[in-house]
Amino acid sequence: MLDALQRPVRDLRISVTDRCNFRCSYCMPKEIFNREYEFLGRDLLLTFEEIARVARVLVDRGVEKIRLTGGEPLLRVELEKLIAMLAGLGQIDLTITTNGSLLERKAEALAAAGLSRVTVSLDSLDDAVFRAMNDVEFPVGRVLDGIEAAAAAGLGPVKINAVVKRGVNDHTLVEMARHFQGSGHIVRFIEYMDVGATNGWRLEDVVPAIDIVAAIGAELPCEPVEPNYSGEVARRYRYLDGSGEFGVIASVTQPFCGACTRLRLSAEGSLYTCLFATEGHDLRDLLRSGAEDADLGALVDGIWRGRTDRYSEIRSSETRGLPKVEMSYIGG
Ligand code: GTP
Ligand code: 5AD
Ligand code: SF4
Ligand code: SF4
Repeated sequence: MLDALQRPVRDLRISVTDRCNFRCSYCMPKEIFNREYEFLGRDLLLTFEEIARVARVLVDRGVEKIRLTGGEPLLRVELEKLIAMLAGLGQIDLTITTNGSLLERKAEALAAAGLSRVTVSLDSLDDAVFRAMNDVEFPVGRVLDGIEAAAAAGLGPVKINAVVKRGVNDHTLVEMARHFQGSGHIVRFIEYMDVGATNGWRLEDVVPAIDIVAAIGAELPCEPVEPNYSGEVARRYRYLDGSGEFGVIASVTQPFCGACTRLRLSAEGSLYTCLFATEGHDLRDLLRSGAEDADLGALVDGIWRGRTDRYSEIRSSETRGLPKVEMSYIGG
């Protein structure tokens, strides 16, 4: 199944909740995501059975990788039950993006349910910087414990995602790269993006990936390596001393829409064909009206075939100010 720009669907990202226990300012700024903010009610969320059904329809259409996201996916009660259902769909790379706060407690159960691996968001190893970025005073040590628990449970190689914001954590990147050298974990530094409409994004706050690589390379000699698979989002660099690799995700300065095979399902059952979409395509009504898989499949086919998204390549004044969906709603 190819979209209008000849891209297949390979990667399904499922948001299981729009809630999070962190308030990272680039994602869920406290001033907006406060007590008055209306998160999705329970009856609006897809059930695990509904999620697994959509996933099955998409696996039949070529999806090979499923990533659970949020908000914070580990806040969803008994997530391991969903993981077991998805693991039963066949040979898929089944992974999760988590802030790591609950990982130490849950790693074993996630692995036992059939999760392949984990990606942990962690923006700095400097405790003060990290606490300021998560904005709920969460200590970095507990996330590090979660990462080790995941690796011990067999959920490696653990990927660590660090969003870089100028003047906030850019002075701590080299230390972070150095810390994870030789650990088997892979850090990826992500350019701060203009997702959603609440984070007050400014181009001046983005540290270009080329500068990140230069800063790390000046201290830790490294060279570029080929992608693991076509369409890989991160550009990889290997340390010359053999102590591992890191990556950069340059969605602002070097967009990768041309090979974008990702489809996103929101927690309330809408499909989004781009991280920067302004509108989704509702599946929940169909799921709850007794439709057959064939009807669901036909709807999904039409949505994917009509897809023309390439937001990061055209990021321009035309698209600025549009009511884009929030990252915490659609997942990363
Ligand atoms: P692996 O399967 O481990 O290779 O994961 P991945 O490289 O797909 O990376 P991951 O899913 O962890 O995504 C990392 C970050 O890249 C996200 O948090 C986003 O910031 C960014 N990202 C991922 N997918 C997209 C996308 O489709 N568009 C844009 N603009 N950014 C994306
Ligand atoms: N820019 C780049 N990455 C972001 N993430 C959340 N908001 C942004 C943003 N504005 C990333 C987080 C996490 C994933 C869920 O998305 O770091 O790894
Ligand atoms: Fe929560 Fe992740 Fe968003 Fe931070 S980036 S507020 S941890 S969903
Ligand atoms: Fe895919 Fe949209 Fe991201 Fe481009 S901006 S890579 S089309 S999700």
